[in-house]
Amino acid sequence: MGVGIIGIGKKTADNVITNEDLCKIMDTSNEWIVERTGITERRIATTQKSLDLAVEATKEALEGIDYDSIDLVIVATITPDMLVPSMASLVKMHLGLKNAIVFDLNSACSGFVYTLWTAESLMNASFEKTGRKINRALVIGSERISRMADWTDRGSCILFGDGAGAVVLERREGETGIITTFLKNYDDVNQALWCGIEYEPNPFSGDEVSPPRTLQMSGIQVFKFAVTAVNEVMEQVLEYAGMDADDVDFYVPHQANLRIIKSAAARFGQSLDKFQININTTGNVSAASIPMALYDAVKAGKIKEGDTIMVVGFGGGLSAGATLLKMW
Ligand code: ACO
Repeated sequence: MGVGIIGIGKKTADNVITNEDLCKIMDTSNEWIVERTGITERRIATTQKSLDLAVEATKEALEGIDYDSIDLVIVATITPDMLVPSMASLVKMHLGLKNAIVFDLNSACSGFVYTLWTAESLMNASFEKTGRKINRALVIGSERISRMADWTDRGSCILFGDGAGAVVLERREGETGIITTFLKNYDDVNQALWCGIEYEPNPFSGDEVSPPRTLQMSGIQVFKFAVTAVNEVMEQVLEYAGMDADDVDFYVPHQANLRIIKSAAARFGQSLDKFQININTTGNVSAASIPMALYDAVKAGKIKEGDTIMVVGFGGGLSAGATLLKMW
C-alpha cells in the first residue's frame, strides 16, 4: 500500500515586510540580513489568524476532492490561535470535514515531516476491531509565528514569517508514494530554542518563575545543531532507502537560513539548483515552511510526476527528520 500526495495548497499572510521596513524599527540593515540569512522579505499577518491561513491553504489543496472523503486532519503548528479546540478541530468545523479524525502536532519547524510520518503510519495501520480505514488525510502546517517572535531581539525576529501549506494524502494499492522516513530528537539542554505559555496563577499555586513568552533563540547553537542534524537525517534516510544523494531529483528543505541549505547541498555534492529556495520571500515559517516550499516547487514545474524528492526539517525540541517520496 502506498501513500502519496494528490493535492497541495498554500496561503501566505497578506502583509509584505521588507528588510528596509525592519530597518525603520530596529538597528539592522538589508545587507546584514541578506548576507547572514538569505531573507529579503517575509509576510506578517495583521488580522489573519493561523486558522484563516490554514483554511485557505486547505481549500486550495482540496480543489476537486470530495470533502467527505477526508478521514484524518493533522495540523502541525507551534502558534495555534487557541489551545482548545485544536487547530485541526477548527479546520474540520470550518470546512465541514464531517468524517475526519483530527488533532494537532507540535514538533516546531520539523512539524511537517513528523505530521507526514504520523499520517502515513495511521493510513497503513490496521484497525482490525473496527475495520475503519484512513484512505485520505490532510496534513497542514500553519503558523502565525510573528506573534511568538521577540521583536526586541534583532538576532531572531528578522527570521520569521507567517503562512500555511497543506497537502492531501491518499492511500493506493500497488503504488509507491512515501518511500521512507527518518526522524531524530535531540535534547535542548542549553535552551537553544525556548518559548513558554502564560497561565494565570491559581489559588493554590506557589511562586513560579514563568518561562519567556516570546521565542528565545541562541542563533549560533541552533545553526550548529541544524547543520549537523540535517546531514544526519539526510544520510540516514538515504541509507534506509538504499539510495544515494544523486538518486534524488529534488530537495525541499525547511527554509531557516540559506547558509544551512547551501551547507547541505555542498555536503552531499549536489547542485544548489536541486534545492527549493524561497526563504528570500517567506522567511522561516516554521511548520508551514516545507509545504509552502513544496507548493512553490510544484507550481514552478521544478517537481514532476514520478520524481523522487526529499523533504528535510529541523527545529525546536530539538527535532529533525527527512522523508523520501515519489511524486504522484
Ligand atoms: N542586524 C545586524 N546585526 C545583527 C543582527 C541583525 N538583525 N542580528 C545579530 N547581529 C549582530 C550580532 O549582534 C553580532 O554582533 P557582534 O559580533 O558585534 O556581537 C553579529 O551580528 C553576529 O551575530 P551572530 O548571532 O553570531 O550571527 P550569525 O551569523 O550566527 O547569524 C542567525 C545569526 C541568522 C540567527 C543564525 O545564527 C541562524 O540562522 N541560526 C539558525 C536559526 C534557525 O535555524 N532557527 C530555526 C529554528 S526556529 C523554530 O524551530 C521555531
